[in-house]
Amino acid sequence: MAEFIPFVYTKLSPEEEQRRAAEFYSLCVRRRSIREFATTPVTRTLLERVILTAGSAPSGANRQPWHFVVVTDPDLKRRIRHAAEAEEKKSYEHRMSQEWLDDLAPLGTDWHKEFLETAPALIVVFSKIHDLEDGKPHKNYYVKESVGIAVGFLLLAIHSAGLVSLTHTPSPMDFLGKILHRPDNERAFLVVPVGYPAEATRVPAIDRKSLDEISTWL
Ligand SMILES: Cc1cc2nc3c(=O)[nH]c(=O)nc-3n(C[C@H](O)[C@H](O)[C@H](O)COP(=O)(O)O)c2cc1C
Repeated sequence: MAEFIPFVYTKLSPEEEQRRAAEFYSLCVRRRSIREFATTPVTRTLLERVILTAGSAPSGANRQPWHFVVVTDPDLKRRIRHAAEAEEKKSYEHRMSQEWLDDLAPLGTDWHKEFLETAPALIVVFSKIHDLEDGKPHKNYYVKESVGIAVGFLLLAIHSAGLVSLTHTPSPMDFLGKILHRPDNERAFLVVPVGYPAEATRVPAIDRKSLDEISTWL
């Protein structure tokens, strides 16, 4: 039976709408993927808050098909790094197409993933293909779309709190479920190392597509 509650809404003035849209854009556009981290720890309450923000994302039928595993233990981070590097070495050396390697070249990435150990925390995001209720599967809907949106919320929450992150997708990444002892209904979705940037770290000089390139107005 559906139950409804009042929606709390405050109408902004046109000027305030413009100001807030511009302010949020200028915050988001300063986010960058960071691949060199300081070892400075991140407080647990900050990580809890950014995960709560991710968990506030919309999802198919409100099934919230995500789980976030926060790894700070050095031994677990080392095991994740070694397993990721083993897969990434094979990918860079044999599995990726020349086109893919050419597209990655401007980013200067390779199979070494030191950040998996130096970042003080790894948020490993799992998608849940179904939930288990009393041992029985209960289907989830639009799982990839929902978890992708939640990760977007997560990345911006991290950025807005003054932390930095990387979106990392070692491929294949089923080793994550094994190392972290996740149940069978979960699939590793991606890894988000979180922390503070290493001193004087640099980022690739990349372009953003223009508004004309990314939008059509009819
Ligand atoms: C789904 C996805 C997977 C990614 N996987 C990796 C990865 O495995 N390793 C990496 O170094 N960067 C990865 N990235 C980061 C992208 O390279 C980066 O977002 C892109 O170059 C734009 O740079 P920016 O994030 O600094 O704006 C990934 C990004 C996304 C959205």
